Amino acid sequence: MKTLQVKLPGRSYNIDIGLNILQTQLPNVVLKKNTDLVVVVTNETLHNLYPDHVSSILEDSGIRVAACVLPDGEQYKNLDTLSQIFDFLMEVSANRKTLLIAFGGGVIGDMAGFAAATFVRGIPYIQIPTTLLAHVDSSVGGKTAVNHPLGKNTIGAFKQPEYVCIELSFLKTLSSRELNAGYIELLKHGIIHDKKLFDFVQSHSLEPLDFEFLEEAILRSCAIKGRVVEKDETETGIRATLNFGHTLGHLIETHAGYGKYLHGEAVGVGMFFAAFVSWRWNELVEDDWTRIKSYLSQILTPIKLPPLDQSLFREMILHDKKAQKQSVNFIMLRKLGESFIRKETSVEMLWKEFKEFSEKFPEFVEIERR
Ligand code: NAD
Ligand code: GLY
Repeated sequence: MKTLQVKLPGRSYNIDIGLNILQTQLPNVVLKKNTDLVVVVTNETLHNLYPDHVSSILEDSGIRVAACVLPDGEQYKNLDTLSQIFDFLMEVSANRKTLLIAFGGGVIGDMAGFAAATFVRGIPYIQIPTTLLAHVDSSVGGKTAVNHPLGKNTIGAFKQPEYVCIELSFLKTLSSRELNAGYIELLKHGIIHDKKLFDFVQSHSLEPLDFEFLEEAILRSCAIKGRVVEKDETETGIRATLNFGHTLGHLIETHAGYGKYLHGEAVGVGMFFAAFVSWRWNELVEDDWTRIKSYLSQILTPIKLPPLDQSLFREMILHDKKAQKQSVNFIMLRKLGESFIRKETSVEMLWKEFKEFSEKFPEFVEIERR
């Protein structure tokens, strides 16, 4: 097992990463929390795959547990489903001493985290991530949210977990498609902050699962994210670099319809686009662009989008029909392993590049005609 700490004033927490660690680690952490009830928030898929798995581990240590089971899917990451968590918490008479556990992928982690941030003005929560994406990214750093029909993750809060337990055995039931989507966020951390992580990840194949490789790769990925979050918890500066690929990625998820593409798939094409723009605008050197392009193009999922014109593109990037501003902070690359925030990037210029991009790489982005 490997352990990492995210150090924040008054809110530091450990991340344990390993195979078959949940049974030994989780009860010890929870018993120290002086809680009278644990509510496990999960979804139907995980509940069927691992019936009462987390509950029984805790109950064996004498901890009182209730399970809140939600529908599965990005299309349910919204205020209605969040309300179901609040209804459940009210039904079981939850209070400030109640501890939430998010048992699932990024969707469950983001929703349970947001419920923890807001229920009775804040209760503690623990992350038990079950997808590779949640292992390498979403379970760490305390961004919690639900989607608005017009914009991804637009309603949320910063709320750090008390503890993150990355149990690798959950990856055994994950589909290749889900694994690939998580792999893209892992690569993202290498591309933006650590060329050696990119090299390391690139030199191993993801399947069959190699737990030694995964433990090391997840540790390095969480370490990158943890260090960035320690410097800039609420994204006033450097944390924005973690959003590399997300400008187009979020547009794809929203415009295609939540749940059509996986978050990692949408972000993957967004990363390819951001690298393309970086190269076109003479920031990213040719060799690194070629390397990123040839690697990403082997693992990307082709995206098909409904009709999109300049004004809709602008509206979706800015999340607002009536927005007065014309620009965004766009994350770009200087070289492999080094990213920067290009402030006030014109949405019009991004649209021009996007048109060029979709013409040059129709195998990755196809826009339906009206
Ligand atoms: P997800 O949570 O929808 O999980 C993907 C699918 O895998 C679901 O159907 C889920 O039920 C299933 N699943 C989960 N664990 C499984 C397992 N062990 N075995 C079999 N099936 C399993 O998607 P995701 O890719 O984990 O997360 C994407 C979400 O995370 C997006 O909403 C994104 O916005 C969010 N996100 C948040 C952050 C953050 O910092 N908070 C970072 C990145 C992504
Ligand atoms: N996934 C981006 C962030 O956590 O800041």
